[in-house]
Amino acid sequence: MLSSELLAKYDIPAPRYTSYPTVPYWDETPSKSKWIQSLSSSLEGDSSWSLYIHVPFCESLCTFCGCNTTITKNHDLEGDYVDSVIKEWETYIASVPELLEKPLRQLHLGGGTPTFLSAENLKRMLDPILSKVNYDKDNFEGSLEVDPRKTNRRQLEVLSELGFNRISLGVQDFTLKVQELVNRVQSFEQTKEITDAARELSYDSVNFDLIYGLPCQGIEEMTQTTKLTIELRPDRIALYSFARVPWIKPAQRKFTDEQLPVGAEKRALYEVAREMLLGAGYHEIGMDHFALPSDELSVGVDEKTLHRNFMGYTPYQTDVLLGLGVSSISESKDCFHQNEKVLNLYKEKVSKNEIPTLRGHIHTEEDLYHRKLILELMTNFELDIPEKILSPMALKLEPLIEDKLCSLKDGKLSVSELGRPFIRNICMTLDKRMLTKKPETKIFSQSL
Ligand SMILES: C[S@@+](CC[C@H](N)C(=O)[O-])C[C@H]1O[C@@H](n2cnc3c(N)ncnc32)[C@H](O)[C@@H]1O
Ligand code: SF4
Repeated sequence: MLSSELLAKYDIPAPRYTSYPTVPYWDETPSKSKWIQSLSSSLEGDSSWSLYIHVPFCESLCTFCGCNTTITKNHDLEGDYVDSVIKEWETYIASVPELLEKPLRQLHLGGGTPTFLSAENLKRMLDPILSKVNYDKDNFEGSLEVDPRKTNRRQLEVLSELGFNRISLGVQDFTLKVQELVNRVQSFEQTKEITDAARELSYDSVNFDLIYGLPCQGIEEMTQTTKLTIELRPDRIALYSFARVPWIKPAQRKFTDEQLPVGAEKRALYEVAREMLLGAGYHEIGMDHFALPSDELSVGVDEKTLHRNFMGYTPYQTDVLLGLGVSSISESKDCFHQNEKVLNLYKEKVSKNEIPTLRGHIHTEEDLYHRKLILELMTNFELDIPEKILSPMALKLEPLIEDKLCSLKDGKLSVSELGRPFIRNICMTLDKRMLTKKPETKIFSQSL
């Protein structure tokens, strides 16, 4: 069991390292020509790519939510949004024909709630893309996030026909008490129905998203949530730490400090779920995922191909991640790029055949170097530390080594079992940008 002193000492604001440099440190947005050239040159030779499409709509707001959403019950918005995504796609392929030639390995629909769109609109959005790209259904991962309260079998059928084979269900917590407090009442039966439908339709991998640290969530609620999860036996589980960022998401102000478990109390919720999941045969992956041994994520760990990007842990890496839709983030070999976050601004730019850029970043050689190190530590939990960065890091690492969170032997940094929960803190010692300039205000959620 982790001591409360350790938890108090290291529970500080820290990035989740789905990217490096982290978004607040992006400092040079690529021009349109630089961004296009970067995509093209990343897709040379024997390369492959991934596509992310963001659908921002949700019918109601879950008050814990940190995602980019547009809350509405007006389904007339669907058609217009689908048109914008198609237009954005056409703008890209006019300049980057490699997107049609190189194999598309992964397609992820995220949100918001992709199943806000009807089956017909999902098909209308995806057909113009999938009918043109080079994708082999046998070597392709098509995944989507669903809210089981807002998903029907027809949507899953249409996507399955297009080659979708992975599904992620938002669950968060199975107990009514917590569900009512976060404005998300979702019955066990609703979750079971979509889980069963996905299996009948041959989706190979079913994931559940759970969160620990929600208001009034205690050991009893976590135990019940984990028990019901194990009963439905998803192939993967993401067990996220509740990221509290009320300065960005004002709805989170509804929760009082007294309602929210923090520090040792919050971590105990993770530990309870972890024990139960390990006991049920799951493997712990990275900092907040679990997978059955047969799942590709477990295989990725065994074969050391695990990767981490804006969508979290994935079994392998491609050369480009192209993000379409409002607020989507893209990655090439040397740039990050994010789309406009305000829906009307996104639509306006796309309607003028512009790439709807909000901001981005061109990596320096040093960024690429530190990015590789942080990625390796986040995925493998060990790293050969090159001599040239060992001495500047040593001072920062000292207290972490003293507290037995990691060890350094023969130039290898290894995260201990005790240190796993503190991986974000350990990665901060490699974060050159943050070491050079500390954030002036609180921008990251707590590390635990
Ligand atoms: C886009 S939602 C999933 C799909 C669908 N909208 C739903 O909620 O069922 C992405 C996931 O992010 C996680 N999430 C959202 N806000 C969070 C927060 N503040 N802290 C931790 N996880 C969060 C939730 O687990 C959620 O399922
Ligand atoms: S958790 Fe999902 S359904 Fe709830 S507001 Fe966030 S994106 Fe929408």
